[in-house]
Amino acid sequence: MTGTILVDHPADRVARITLDRPTALNALNLQAMREITTTAAELDRDPNVGAIILTGSAKAFAAGADIKEMAPRSFSDVFAEDWFAGWDTLSRVRTPLIAAVAGYALGGGCELAMICDVLIAADNAKFGQPEITLGVIPGMGGSQRLTRAIGKAKAMDLILTGRMMDADEAERAGLVSRIVPADALPEEGVTTASKVASTSKPASMMAKEAVNRAFETSLSEGLLFERRLFHSTFATHDQKEGMAAFTNKRKPDFRHT
Ligand code: HXC
Repeated sequence: MTGTILVDHPADRVARITLDRPTALNALNLQAMREITTTAAELDRDPNVGAIILTGSAKAFAAGADIKEMAPRSFSDVFAEDWFAGWDTLSRVRTPLIAAVAGYALGGGCELAMICDVLIAADNAKFGQPEITLGVIPGMGGSQRLTRAIGKAKAMDLILTGRMMDADEAERAGLVSRIVPADALPEEGVTTASKVASTSKPASMMAKEAVNRAFETSLSEGLLFERRLFHSTFATHDQKEGMAAFTNKRKPDFRHT
């Protein structure tokens, strides 16, 4: 069976998963879901990986879940198999995930990008949740993550009309972290991931966990959670090293412990 992804290590402590179904604009079939989630979970367990890039091609990050695979399925099929629940594995990855998005990020493609932590868009990126035009609704988190990212009014607009949003609109709306020229996207993804991976891994994992907690809890509980994590960074080698390096005006030598 031909694989749906490529995996490489483009820089120290950086892993990259590249979606590779060019004839289907990287549509996410069940095989792709299995391969992406299994690989990400393996990389997450690797102490030598400090950041994971998820990317596609210059034309498409991913044009959605695979419509041809979905079309013949019945309610009983998708309910019994709990379609798309497998993506939850990716949201449990604790290593920072950097989405580098060029071209189409539609439906499940937009939802996949939103599972990631930092979302860098090429200036040709197009985001949307066009499921409504197929007679269905988002099924991989679009109605929840898009609404949290850009607010109800714009999320409703996109989800009810199925229209696409370009990179500028996506940045204004707060969906993407930043925009870069399309030809600079691969390098920018690696530079950003390298920067994240060069920091203390326990600290970056805790930072990710703390930010994500903001979506799950009250402000006072979230502040307490953050403070307790902050306290626990003082049990790490890297806190001692990072602060000593600052005091001694040298670069820190993090051990990720
Ligand atoms: C399966 C897809 C696909 C998809 C594209 N292809 N998107 N196959 N599933 N989501 C295939 C096309 O059938 C075609 O195959 C090839 O990729 C190239 O696509 P074209 O349409 O010829 O390219 P283009 O004219 O450039 O148009 C690009 C596009 C269009 C605007 C992105 O492909 C498109 O609208 N795609 C569907 C987008 C979409 O609705 N996504 C949401 C999916 S639902 P052939 O064999 O003809 O060359 C979803 C649900 C999530 O994500 C969970 C809810 C249940």
